[in-house]
Amino acid sequence: MYNITVQTEEKKFPAAPDLYGLFFEDINRSGDGGLFPEMIRNRSFEDSLPPKRVTVSRDRSFFQTPEGFTLPFCHGEGTANWVRKNQIPYTPIPGWYGEAAVMKLECENTLNSKREAALLVEFSEGGSIYNTGYMGMKQVAGEKYDFLMFAGADRPVRLIVSLSGADGTEYARKEFAIRENAYCRYEATLTASGDDTGARLVFTAPEGGRVKFGFTSLKPADTYNGHGLRRDLVEKLKALNPQFLRFPGGCIVEGFTRETAMRFPNTIGPEWERPSHGLMWHYRTTNGLGFHEYLQLCEDLGAKAMYVFNCGITCQGRFPELFCEDEVDTLIQETLDAIAYAIDPADSPWGRKRAEAGHEAPFDLHYIEIGNENFGPDYLARYQKCYAALKEKYPNLIYISNTHTEAAGLPTEIVDEHFYDTPEFFAEACSRYDSYDRSGPGIFVGEFAVTAGAPESLYAALGEAMFMVGLERNQDVVKLASYAPLLANPHYVSWTPDLIFFDNNGSYCIPSYYVWKIFGRFRGDTVVASQDDSPRLFFPVRGLPAVMGDVGVKWREAAWNGYSIQPSHAILGAAEFRDGVWTTIPGEPVGVHPYRAGQLRAKTFVALGEDELATEGVFEIELFAEEGRELVLGLFCKKGEPAVHWTNHSADPQPWSLADVLPFQWVIRDGKSCVMYGRLGRERMISQPVCVDVNYGSFNQFRAELSARNMLLSVNGKQIADVLVPQYPAAACVASETGEEVIIKIVNMAAGAEEVQITLDCDVEPEYTAHILTGDPIGKNSFRQPERIRDVSLQKTGASRRFMYAMPGSSVNVLVLKKKH
Ligand code: AHR
Repeated sequence: MYNITVQTEEKKFPAAPDLYGLFFEDINRSGDGGLFPEMIRNRSFEDSLPPKRVTVSRDRSFFQTPEGFTLPFCHGEGTANWVRKNQIPYTPIPGWYGEAAVMKLECENTLNSKREAALLVEFSEGGSIYNTGYMGMKQVAGEKYDFLMFAGADRPVRLIVSLSGADGTEYARKEFAIRENAYCRYEATLTASGDDTGARLVFTAPEGGRVKFGFTSLKPADTYNGHGLRRDLVEKLKALNPQFLRFPGGCIVEGFTRETAMRFPNTIGPEWERPSHGLMWHYRTTNGLGFHEYLQLCEDLGAKAMYVFNCGITCQGRFPELFCEDEVDTLIQETLDAIAYAIDPADSPWGRKRAEAGHEAPFDLHYIEIGNENFGPDYLARYQKCYAALKEKYPNLIYISNTHTEAAGLPTEIVDEHFYDTPEFFAEACSRYDSYDRSGPGIFVGEFAVTAGAPESLYAALGEAMFMVGLERNQDVVKLASYAPLLANPHYVSWTPDLIFFDNNGSYCIPSYYVWKIFGRFRGDTVVASQDDSPRLFFPVRGLPAVMGDVGVKWREAAWNGYSIQPSHAILGAAEFRDGVWTTIPGEPVGVHPYRAGQLRAKTFVALGEDELATEGVFEIELFAEEGRELVLGLFCKKGEPAVHWTNHSADPQPWSLADVLPFQWVIRDGKSCVMYGRLGRERMISQPVCVDVNYGSFNQFRAELSARNMLLSVNGKQIADVLVPQYPAAACVASETGEEVIIKIVNMAAGAEEVQITLDCDVEPEYTAHILTGDPIGKNSFRQPERIRDVSLQKTGASRRFMYAMPGSSVNVLVLKKKH
């Protein structure tokens, strides 16, 4: 039995009003073709233009920035994986195909100074070109689609624009007479006569002719509130009751070169006048989803706007470029302009632009984040400058920094912390904010998600829910939180997991979404005291021993439970066998953030043996010790479920990859031994270092006796440490109240159901509601089973000052009790 005590009389602090919000970044093609439901892929014909200053490989499969960072390109289609999996046939102009028509990109005489290319087409008699959209276009009988193009011709051309199935079935058509002119604007509303999810937009010239297209667009007429965004996706976002929306990124704010950073001026005005640019997630954005559209979305969601701007550094994880002083001044001015656009009165210069774009009243811009995931001295200098300038002009806005800038003595209001880790990490981090300085800055957990261990599953959602209980318990410090990333088109994944998956046909949410839904809906006004006596669970252990550490480590006589074992999985580098001795050799790190790849080239990670399911056993090995060469033994290495895959977006993620195999590491360095845990390069110490006698210049015997609870470590026959496996609470709870209700949130990470005795200090009605998320912990949702794991609301009875609640195994529970007055 598990006991929870709630003292409504002991008010702790007001609930942070904006605690739960959203973070949207254009990633996984979630902007154009996603939330911004443009149906034409490469509507501006610029996708095959590489970003400025990069060097494109001969076969155009990738490009390299001046600082040496490489990204897949595939002549503008994105990653090789997308091309392969989506079976995209080659076309020099992504998205566009021709029959009896020759297409050519023209970079001169484009539609306007912001457009870098136009599409010149020589139609033969009856020739056509067509666009296949984002893996086809969806047509629904009776639905209307808004078509727009800018086109010109040197002689009049009859052009038929139609929506057609891949088999030629026509759903809608409109005939245009393209005038003899540079560019004219042509528009039509097309009403589909049939249903299709793989339709195309076809341009046919029955008599042939030469047409130059400057820009095209096709969008569903039916959008959320008529504001241009995809209805089902906005509805899903709205159901989370978000209190803020952080936009537009994420790493895309930073860019991978100075030209690819997000800039406010590029994201306002008529869509065809907004420059496009390449995103680090392997495609271009046409910036149709721009500053105004984000602000309008915030308003439609009832959320405050949080704008993130580039403060003068490109992505520090991707070999950064620094903007110079003058450029930083320009970035600051642009941000001041953006703020003015959002909140200055309609009769001011920028407010007028907003009003002209259809919104007279100021928007609710509330938060400004200075950079994304920036750090170090370059950031501190830029932060200080930006903060001073913005705060002076707009003192009422709340400013967010990327690191603990207060530690450097800088004025700091809120600090943004990001976490991508395992379910157990998040469960353990439930108490992370208990010890934060109450007089320090507020905390924004701006990005977090389970990306390793069991991503996308209910179990992942449970780990995150435990963490969120910890956030709620600390709302005097933690003011804001958001999951990341938000949306993904499964055909164009550059980051998993994501909260919502969508394609042309529909969308579904991962289990985590439903945690956000029920946590976001039942907030309470005041956090009250609560205690629980949850037992603790050990971090799960399972898997193979490994030889890690520096390249060049030699070993022999490796054995598991007395049986000889050999290398079975080369996760980093490899090992070669000669004269009875294995030696580790280097290899290119795959599946890690590029920032860490450099550090890892000198390391190796070779798993031994076959018993992947082992949770206990004895590992023995003889390692050759040399002064200065680090010896590391991996303990409990299990293959991961591939999630975020970093360096090679063009290859399938591997289950035995550096990103996903999380070993315990027994490290012997400089005569000291300790155990670390976590992803390579981001480990934390779980045992205090102890001195150890190794004999340099000879083989030494290492022995690890492993169980689910502890690791007994010996060197040369002498036991040196008994290391406890880390633990996390099996369950956690938090309580809040309003004048009418007591709300108790309880998360059960354990698989077993549990009777919970709840003791209250106030009278409540016997009837109450339990909003519950439960199921198979490894269960996931999918397009086929979109709601396999989702919340249910049950009416229950029996609540009183002391009552029992039957808590399902692997569950998130939000109990809403009515106070008796
Ligand atoms: O959420 C995906 C990425 O993770 C964001 O762009 C970045 O801020 C973080 O590294």
